[in-house]
Amino acid sequence: MTTGSRARVGLVGAGWWSGRTHLPALSANPDAELVVICDPDAERAQAAAAMFDVPHSVTTIEQLLDHDLDCVLVATPHDTHHRPAAAALDAGVDVMVEKPMTLDPGQAWDLVRRARESGARLHVGYPFPHSPHAAAVRELIARGDIGEPVMVTGLFATSVATLYRGNVDLVAEQDRFAPRASTYAERAHGGGQLHTQMTHAASLVLWTTGLRPREVSAYAQDGGLDVDLSDALAVSMEGGAIATLATTGSVYDHNLRLEEYRIFGSEGHVLLDTARGTLWVLRRGHEPVEHPTLSEHDAQPSDATSAALVAAALGKGPVLVPGEIGAMTVDLLNAAQESARIGGPISARPAASAVVGSGG
Ligand SMILES: NC(=O)c1ccc[n+]([C@@H]2O[C@H](COP(=O)([O-])OP(=O)(O)OC[C@H]3O[C@@H](n4cnc5c(N)ncnc54)[C@H](O)[C@@H]3O)[C@@H](O)[C@H]2O)c1
Repeated sequence: MTTGSRARVGLVGAGWWSGRTHLPALSANPDAELVVICDPDAERAQAAAAMFDVPHSVTTIEQLLDHDLDCVLVATPHDTHHRPAAAALDAGVDVMVEKPMTLDPGQAWDLVRRARESGARLHVGYPFPHSPHAAAVRELIARGDIGEPVMVTGLFATSVATLYRGNVDLVAEQDRFAPRASTYAERAHGGGQLHTQMTHAASLVLWTTGLRPREVSAYAQDGGLDVDLSDALAVSMEGGAIATLATTGSVYDHNLRLEEYRIFGSEGHVLLDTARGTLWVLRRGHEPVEHPTLSEHDAQPSDATSAALVAAALGKGPVLVPGEIGAMTVDLLNAAQESARIGGPISARPAASAVVGSGG
């Protein structure tokens, strides 16, 4: 455990996202001591450790947990998050699980339960809530500035279709590590737009508004792939608010992506754009307020997630995105997937057996 002022960190999964974001961010974080990297592919683990001056590389979670850690970051393919996260939480070690927290709602709520039982902190690796605009929206809605939320619409349209085709060569040309083709291109591993991208939009809506999904009707479109390329969700919330959430990975250029949220309340509305870094707040009886435009980094501060894990472990910061938000998002997306499959509405409430509290 912490001996000095730095948190001892273990990283699980030496893949694309770790190499592009977590390893550079943790290496540059003066509060973090990167101790060990785990990947079943020993060569990947060793290569990442050598590249970022990390003293140990291992191939199992048990070996990783032998290193007396304060926190563990899990950045493995979607369908493999539960096991390493559960083992670390049971050992009383703080965990940040990458998005989507899990594919299965039971596994997601199981992690929430394990964290509560062991007292370890559980974060989910969504970057958008770490932006100042998302924080402002959350605060003003909690204060009642726009009244009761009545309707939300979100559009998350990004340029990731190439991953769903299993074409990782383009990524390999730009980044230190390329993802495994199976991570995003195979339905069996939770590939596709719903779990890869819609998870960002859905979680941000839940996190900013405090709304809780009741039921969802969804359609999915696969564009001839093994996984979904586009999804459209109509969601009814507890308390009566409604939402539409739409997503596609079909945008042909990253710079042309659209990430827009319109949140309407009884007394005003909010226009948030995390791709352009803009935020407008329009309130009955007030002049419209345009918040200062954010840089691309500040609108999506990807390096902030590992920083939050480290800060919380040192008692210097909160769990900004708790496991409950991740698990509610898994509930919603799992229900949406089922709705699209059967062609009818599905309850998006946590399964009765899974309810462990109202969550943050
Ligand atoms: N927060 C974000 O904005 C963001 C962005 C990109 C990716 N991600 C998430 O990060 C995670 C990893 O994505 P990626 O693109 O790096 O994937 P990737 O295909 O590069 O795989 C990650 C690595 O995990 C390893 N691995 C597989 N099973 C493992 C296990 N059981 N234990 C340890 N390591 C294991 C693989 O060998 C691989 O090296 C995914 O859940 C993804 O959704 C998040």
